[in-house]
Amino acid sequence: MNIIIVKDFEEMSRKAAHLFVAQLLNKPDSVLGLATGSTPLGLYRELVAFCNQGMISFDKVVSFNLDEYIGLEPDHPQSYSHFMEQELFSRVDIRPENTFIPSGISKDVEAECKGYDKRIAAYGGIDLQVLGIGRNGHIGFNEPDLKFEARTHVVQLDEQTIRDNARFFKEIGDVPRRAISMGIKTIMQSRQIVLLASGKEKAEAIEKMLNGNITPEVPASVLQLHPNATAIIDLAAASLL
Ligand code: GLP
Repeated sequence: MNIIIVKDFEEMSRKAAHLFVAQLLNKPDSVLGLATGSTPLGLYRELVAFCNQGMISFDKVVSFNLDEYIGLEPDHPQSYSHFMEQELFSRVDIRPENTFIPSGISKDVEAECKGYDKRIAAYGGIDLQVLGIGRNGHIGFNEPDLKFEARTHVVQLDEQTIRDNARFFKEIGDVPRRAISMGIKTIMQSRQIVLLASGKEKAEAIEKMLNGNITPEVPASVLQLHPNATAIIDLAAASLL
């Protein structure tokens, strides 16, 4: 795994944006894997600016998001669908029909999961996937577990994840308990991965991801096996390395 240590959130976001710009200049019809949470916000801001300057276009881009809460309508303010619309999709020239996010309100979640993987495969797989990391080492919503879940699946969220994400909701009781997440194999099949981490609350997870054993108890540790993965980490998140 390539490791790039940067000063702060801003530098992390700029460096990540440069990888995306290079990807889109080389392959305008790239399939991008996108993430939510506070970590990629700066990256999306940079990409919006590059797009508005005419440097890059999303017109031919196809995107797949990592995950979605079960039970939230796409226009619910805390749904990941709404997040993506606000932070990126409505601000760049991406075509709505080319953006995919698992549906959290599907009547048949199993079919939703299977269909999601099939669709990713039908588009030729993901060229560049961005990841954040949970404090417990989760990627997407792949929580610490006894085994790696290969494919897109339904997840029971960890108590810690529910507590961490409660800051976005009115009260902790409003945080959904379940989500749909791309699986580890789906993520690992991306041709390139960039994991971003900022802030001291991520330091322990980053230390375990890079220096620990490869174990489903630290889902991000599997990235050690990826042939083209880069971690862009700010000084605070790298403080235990
Ligand atoms: C959420 C998301 C992850 C994200 C993580 C960290 O649970 N499902 O994709 O990486 O939290 O979030 P943040 O970037 O806000 O720290």
